[in-house]
Amino acid sequence: MRIQAVSGSLRANSTNSALVRAAEECADAEVDFAVFEGLDTLPHYSPELDRADVLPASVLEWRKQLASADGVLICTPEYAFGMPGSLKNALDWVVSSGELWRKPVAALSASPSALGGEKAHAALLLTLTALEAQTVEEASLAALKNSFDALVSAARLKNPI
Ligand SMILES: Cc1cc2nc3c(=O)[nH]c(=O)nc-3n(C[C@H](O)[C@H](O)[C@H](O)COP(=O)(O)O)c2cc1C
Repeated sequence: MRIQAVSGSLRANSTNSALVRAAEECADAEVDFAVFEGLDTLPHYSPELDRADVLPASVLEWRKQLASADGVLICTPEYAFGMPGSLKNALDWVVSSGELWRKPVAALSASPSALGGEKAHAALLLTLTALEAQTVEEASLAALKNSFDALVSAARLKNPI
């Protein structure tokens, strides 16, 4: 069982990256938990680069890591009522290649605001809908362990091995 996690924050002391690490703590021993650290290595999405003969190596790596995952955990900050551009850019890179298609994905958002990044969370869910990911509805910051267990259960149903 492989879970690929990614934090939408590039900040050194990021709360969302801490959330990713906390989720890893929740993982049972059977879970191979990997964190994608290369959001800032992905070039701005362009259809001109989205061709086999010119595809950047960082994009290939991002797609490979997602393709080999049974489930994906995304923790995003809220920037200007949405998700950071670097995370949206990373998701734009898998529109044509489809690595998140029907894949269980849990989305979380941590923000110091009283509303807890709910707009970024909604924006992320909307993008995941466009990608036809199988979003794990139970995901919530208030119940990180339950959210992570729900993701692992959904991934296990997809891939019972
Ligand atoms: C450019 C920028 C825009 C932000 N916009 C919002 C916002 O719209 N809503 C919100 O709740 N917090 C906003 N914040 C505050 C972030 O939620 C806060 O910095 C948070 O800690 C970022 O997540 P991180 O700790 O994972 O880096 C913004 C921060 C920055 C730097």
